[in-house]
Amino acid sequence: MVKPEQYVVIGNPIEHSKSPQIHSLFAQQTGISIEYKKLLCPVGDFSKVVSEFFASGGRGANVTVPFKLEAYEFSTLRSTRVEHAKAANTLLCKNGVISAENTDGIGLVRDIVDNLEFSIAGKSVLIVGSGGATRGVLLPILEELPKSIRVINRTPEKAHQLIKTIEVEARGLAVDVVAGGLHDLHDGEFDLVVNATSSSLSNDLFPLRTNLLGSKALAYDMMYGKHETSFTKWAQKSKAHRAVDGLGMLVEQAAESFFLWCDKRPDTQTVMKILRSE
Ligand code: ATR
Repeated sequence: MVKPEQYVVIGNPIEHSKSPQIHSLFAQQTGISIEYKKLLCPVGDFSKVVSEFFASGGRGANVTVPFKLEAYEFSTLRSTRVEHAKAANTLLCKNGVISAENTDGIGLVRDIVDNLEFSIAGKSVLIVGSGGATRGVLLPILEELPKSIRVINRTPEKAHQLIKTIEVEARGLAVDVVAGGLHDLHDGEFDLVVNATSSSLSNDLFPLRTNLLGSKALAYDMMYGKHETSFTKWAQKSKAHRAVDGLGMLVEQAAESFFLWCDKRPDTQTVMKILRSE
């Protein structure tokens, strides 16, 4: 019998990861035989652990916190998105060459535009946070041609640094891009507010005024959990038209990785329903 192709999700911590379940469901749906496991990697050992995995015949890896930057450095062939974000969440080993992709942004955009049927084109977008999560999604959001993107962060300098990476593209696409601190939002309403901070994980909410959201606004938390996140609770209190967590993004980014590895597009809706019902 032919051994199934080997895949892993590498991170630290990794116990909570839903990726093995999601990819097993994709594999069942598409009739492809794969083996997908969690791989806990000690901080500082990414390159050693991932080299060993590929040397032993591994075909692909998803990479999560805190190794996305190291995955970028480890790879030899990089997509434009990876080059731009300087971070990768998907690795593929083909003929000994490691290629890298970042599917986070496309996952977020697919969930917002296709699943939630919210067009980003012409809208005013607020992104809270300026870490790796924001870096991965900034260019894909810009490519949807919003009217404006404002990036705010607890440490404002990081938001300023980050928007420099898309300044040229933004100018070319005539999208207004500005950066600031959490307290710089004195006026204006936004159509789409994305929480890309890790604050929901600690159930900690930064101070955002409640009249930030326009009457048809979508509030999107890139985090997800069993319960409402502190951000979606804030959004509901602020009368967001819709407030959603990042489970859809998780499934969509996984589907894009699966497509890169197996050349098949799984049905993400069915998988989302299964995960929501658990
Ligand atoms: P990730 O790679 O998941 O984005 P990160 O690079 O550590 O993780 O970034 C976490 C983001 O969440 C940062 O924007 C961080 O703000 P700082 O740059 O000021 O550290 C933000 N963050 C984390 N906890 C927060 C909190 N309680 N309130 C506001 N912002 C928070």
